[in-house]
Amino acid sequence: MKNILKGSGVLLVGIILYSLSSCYYDKRDLISPPSLSTTSCDTVNVTYTNQVKSVLSGACTGCHQGGGGSGGVVLDTYTGIQACGTARLLGSIKHQSPYSAMPQGGTKLPDCQIAVIEKWIQNGAPNN
Ligand code: HEC
Repeated sequence: MKNILKGSGVLLVGIILYSLSSCYYDKRDLISPPSLSTTSCDTVNVTYTNQVKSVLSGACTGCHQGGGGSGGVVLDTYTGIQACGTARLLGSIKHQSPYSAMPQGGTKLPDCQIAVIEKWIQNGAPNN
């Protein structure tokens, strides 16, 4: 009889320890930071060829390419962007007055794409 009580006591302690330890791991999972790769926005090595061009061709050049781009704005070439002016380009994608908000009739570009273009302009908008 004594042995059975002792046995169940050990089992009880075991269960308590086990549940405490599983609690501990649950909390650890909650505090661990989310994976950086899914939340970061790389604006360190921004180039016209690798990032800016693909953002513009994805969202803008449907209306702004060739000789007769909408509003006289041509965004599928580097010279077209220079003719447009980078302040005007940035103002339009950041939806800042007095510029027309772009893309016209669509939703604002994702923050990361705006940050990439802004960084490129801050770097002097090089043809790189
Ligand atoms: C559905 C067609 C369409 C799309 C897509 C579009 N635009 Fe435009 N955009 C226009 C038209 C039309 C005008 C001229 C009328 C106006 O200024 O609102 C214009 C004007 C502009 C201007 C001149 C604005 C000013 O106030 O001087 C800029 C800069 C511009 N667009 C940039 C962009 C950029 C950058 C994108 C992509 C993020 C884009 N547009 C996407 C149709 C479009």
